Amino acid sequence: MQITVTGAAGYIGSHACLKLLDDGHEVHGLDNFSRSFERTVQALQRAGGGRFHFTQVELNDQRATTAALKLHPPEIVLHFAAFAVVPESVQFPLIYWHNNVGATVSLLNAMDAVDARKLIFSSTCATYGEPAPAHIPIGEDCPQRPTHAYGESKLACEHIMKAWVQSNAHADRDRGVVFLRYFNVAGGDHLARIGEDHDPETHLVPICLRAATGRHPELVVHGNDYPTPDGTCIRDYVHVEDLVTAHIEAIKVIPHRQTLAMNVGTGVGASVLEVLRACSVAAGREVPFRMGARRDGDPPKLVSNPEKIFRLTSWRPARSSLEAITQSAWRWFAQQK
Ligand SMILES: NC(=O)c1ccc[n+]([C@@H]2O[C@H](COP(=O)([O-])OP(=O)(O)OC[C@H]3O[C@@H](n4cnc5c(N)ncnc54)[C@H](O)[C@@H]3O)[C@@H](O)[C@H]2O)c1
Repeated sequence: MQITVTGAAGYIGSHACLKLLDDGHEVHGLDNFSRSFERTVQALQRAGGGRFHFTQVELNDQRATTAALKLHPPEIVLHFAAFAVVPESVQFPLIYWHNNVGATVSLLNAMDAVDARKLIFSSTCATYGEPAPAHIPIGEDCPQRPTHAYGESKLACEHIMKAWVQSNAHADRDRGVVFLRYFNVAGGDHLARIGEDHDPETHLVPICLRAATGRHPELVVHGNDYPTPDGTCIRDYVHVEDLVTAHIEAIKVIPHRQTLAMNVGTGVGASVLEVLRACSVAAGREVPFRMGARRDGDPPKLVSNPEKIFRLTSWRPARSSLEAITQSAWRWFAQQK
């Protein structure tokens, strides 16, 4: 299949490219490197040989995006490109509306120009905001009430895509979109060809590994007085390779002239201290940490109810134990200079 991946140089997009290439697909990656590095594209080129094509493009530039899509007209688009740092979105909300929503509108227009009709969208559990305890574990019917511009921008993208698939102007076009609402993604490629590579880093597992090796000051645990067994927040961690497999399964169930939302999580939660301990074991050294104050807007527990994706697809998490996540993250991290 000919597949276009936006955000191909980013953490999840690059792991998706790698898996699609390993599976024998033709992959066209798009990225503007605003949050990523050329070295990741080079790793993908090594892995994919002639089947990986890359175009550096700003998705908000509709003309350039259309021209890029024309190079390799896609059967499916996987849309990962976005800004995704919650505190930044609180500080600078407009760049989130511009980059996440603006770029999505531009991409859909560009897709129309090449008559590309199928899309898998990287949505997020942040669109649920802070669900009431009765809604945990979180199903897709949980009210979507995001509490920051990042979550709002992602929810707006869902609304825009719904309008796109149902538009009467092109009723003859069999458009379809799957929203995959990810929970916490972590881990790296099983062959350590690529890994989680953000700068600055804001995710727990890579920060723990950096702290363990002295490349980051001690980890600050934001609150240990939550109503959870060890007092720290609980999240649902899914291995990036499991997440990518969910996309491949989602391609098989893209609906006709409709959207379909599915959560991607394991249904099992882990606390900050449990992740920290797993990172210590993987790295073979202590992760230095201290307790800090709670952060605004951090709900005590966010865990998915994965029943819907289990029912509609044959996806099951296979590598999402804390051990598998942290060991794969460490294998890649340990070989970085
Ligand atoms: N990492 C997680 O735990 C997580 C959880 C839920 C949802 N998500 C979603 O998954 C997607 C990928 O996340 P990630 O962690 O890989 O982020 P990332 O920052 O590593 O990757 C995003 C990529 O998109 C590119 N990009 C951003 N804006 C662009 C634009 N206007 N034009 C072209 N390229 C652009 C960046 O340069 C980067 O390479 C995002 O949409 C994010 O909202 C991630």
